[in-house]
Amino acid sequence: MSDKNILIFPKNFLWGAATSAYQVEGGITNEWSEWEKTNADRLAEEAKTYYQDWQLKKMPEILNRENYLSGQAADHYNRYKEDFVLVEKLNHNAHRLSLEWSRIQPEENKFDEKEIEHYREVLLDLKRRKIIVFLTIWHWLNPLWVRDQGGWENKKTISDFKKYVSRLAEEFGDLVDFWQPLNEPGTYIGMSYIQGSWPPQVRSFWRANKAFKNLMEAYRQSYQAIKQVKASAQVGMSHYAVYNIPYKNKLINRLLVKPIDYFRNWRFLDSIDKTNDFIGIQFYHTDHLNITWKFKFGRGRWGFLELKNPNQDVTDMNWDIYPEGLYHLIKRAAKYGKPIYVTENGLADKFDEKRTRFIKEHLIFIHRAISEGVDVRGYFHWSLLDNFEWDKGFWPRFGLVEVDYQTLERKIRNSALVYADICKNNYLEIE
Ligand code: BGC
Repeated sequence: MSDKNILIFPKNFLWGAATSAYQVEGGITNEWSEWEKTNADRLAEEAKTYYQDWQLKKMPEILNRENYLSGQAADHYNRYKEDFVLVEKLNHNAHRLSLEWSRIQPEENKFDEKEIEHYREVLLDLKRRKIIVFLTIWHWLNPLWVRDQGGWENKKTISDFKKYVSRLAEEFGDLVDFWQPLNEPGTYIGMSYIQGSWPPQVRSFWRANKAFKNLMEAYRQSYQAIKQVKASAQVGMSHYAVYNIPYKNKLINRLLVKPIDYFRNWRFLDSIDKTNDFIGIQFYHTDHLNITWKFKFGRGRWGFLELKNPNQDVTDMNWDIYPEGLYHLIKRAAKYGKPIYVTENGLADKFDEKRTRFIKEHLIFIHRAISEGVDVRGYFHWSLLDNFEWDKGFWPRFGLVEVDYQTLERKIRNSALVYADICKNNYLEIE
């Protein structure tokens, strides 16, 4: 094997996969689980016209009401040990996971010691296996009491969240290597307050901005709270980065791509620059931005903005596959001068037809950025397991490991084995 055919990653590069509590644990009651109950029928009904024929044929479960109810999910809450055996077996040296706020603090004035103990066991299990831990604190889920006080539109949620974060830092400071207080606040705001598809289903720029500002403040305060408990803790953002392209290169789209790109990609990172020890980039797809004269909200429609996808190379969710987009975003994120970790990147691919190529091509572009001097230190594939994909439910299959939702049996996909070799070798062989 000549050196030409291998791309060697930096020493101590972190290799792993990510999950989030709500998407895999099962048995959770919170704002989402309540929302599902009243929306599952609607989502199954809308699916009949929303999805394309090839999608309905390939994933007929799209039409089932049960698909939209998270229920026991992958039962990771009870099977985490079995799943971490897989993490080890697949040669991951790092793992990203989240905690469920509604379990730990089911009521405003009640911390559940049993659940704290449970998560201590979970984190300890990873530590015993010498796995580096990335912990996300809030992955979009609010306990019912937070929902009832107005969620992130209410400033009080900021101080409540800070108290919660301080407690976590005290409890788990010895077990967590990297903290990510918030997962992709931009996505949450877009989906829950602009597009209005997710709870609380608001469509208002004004309210979106209010919630967004509160989330930014919550992030800053969380950073301080963790540092107060453990000054050496590494705390950083997990940021959904979209590569934005002007649709059909039209002048109006070209003019607007820059400001839109700023709001979608950089506004948040700019505003928290001083409270970011590292940057977590999460990359899935590229959007071709089109400005229309029709003001409309809905899937893929944000007022005058339309998100288009002319690419033929797509995932099961019809998201375009454009690995080079990750390269451009990493290069731009380098301006902050912080270490970068790709804390999510993945695709829905039920039959594992594209995942191997997807992983390799994204790694090639990450490597290119590294070779041009950008300090990228890790890659986490989304996801370790098939999981509950929010308002799409269970049909999108993101896992390196397949989950049979009837038997809950795990089956390692072929792409996971290819990725496992890359993790072990710390290099990628290219043809
Ligand atoms: C989120 C995950 C989600 C994934 C795929 C990410 O933005 O953090 O929760 O499953 O995208 O849609």
